[in-house]
Amino acid sequence: MTVKHYLQFTDFTAEEYAYLLERAALLKRKFKNYEKHHSLADRTLAMIFEKASTRTRVSFEAGMYQLGGSVVHLTTGDSQLGRAEPIEDSAKVISRMVDLVMIRTFGQDKIERFAAHSRVPVINGLTNEFHPCQILADIFTYIEHRGSIAGKTVAWVGDGNNMANTWLQAAELLGFRVHVSTPGGYEVNRAIAGVRSNASYAVFENPIDACRDADLVTTDVWTSMGFEAENEARRQAFADWRVDDTMMRAAKPDALFMHCLPAHRGEEVTAEVIDGPQSVVWDEAENRMHVQKALMEYLLLGRQP
Ligand code: CP
Ligand code: NVA
Repeated sequence: MTVKHYLQFTDFTAEEYAYLLERAALLKRKFKNYEKHHSLADRTLAMIFEKASTRTRVSFEAGMYQLGGSVVHLTTGDSQLGRAEPIEDSAKVISRMVDLVMIRTFGQDKIERFAAHSRVPVINGLTNEFHPCQILADIFTYIEHRGSIAGKTVAWVGDGNNMANTWLQAAELLGFRVHVSTPGGYEVNRAIAGVRSNASYAVFENPIDACRDADLVTTDVWTSMGFEAENEARRQAFADWRVDDTMMRAAKPDALFMHCLPAHRGEEVTAEVIDGPQSVVWDEAENRMHVQKALMEYLLLGRQP
């Protein structure tokens, strides 16, 4: 039997996303009403972190407990993963003892190799290339505030990184557009992003042009985890890619601002914008938990009536 994994956004169809987003809304309503929902009773999730995390850890761990399951937390430093046990061996062993695995690691190839040797579904909790759980939460958050995202324009300001790549995948699959503006040398790469064509995104030299008439403006740290050695060069290169009031004014009057967090006020975004009335970053963070509960349930149980 083939195992279903969630390694990148394109692993599900638009129709599966429609189901997941609806299910996440139901699970969120139940959570808010303190209604018990133990669909994953006796199931165990292993969470493997090779990079730091606050939101991903708390949202998966709290989410799994709310579904009646339990979690095992592993890091590179406290497991044999940090002592060169082959990823394939780790996958074979861990997946005999748990029902589901979430991994945050470096190269996408690592999670692909783990999944290829896992008996149970594997979820991407962030790689250098992709962050699908975050984009799922972002789209859920957009819909909560503004309705369908189909046909809308998302402005991506900053690094052509894992978040940008995943936005491109989502746009191609769900029928919206991304306007991307990055400094030279930090562009999105269509081959790495894994999109079929450039029909659903456009590249702008000037970030204000990318924000023009956008429905959502979003950005991310200038230096992602694993790229710390480039920090100083990036600070200089990204100085004009700080989301500020001028960029937000170029967008539609009811445009939202999102940031996957953690944020650096005064670097990629001003305090006025991230703490301002258009920002939905706290809903966005909370929604990680609701969409991931729907995701875990779907991977283990399939569609629920
Ligand atoms: N947005 C996000 O993935 O946050 P963490 O790095 O805290 O998990
Ligand atoms: N692009 C950032 C996202 C952090 C959640 C990183 O990879 O570090």
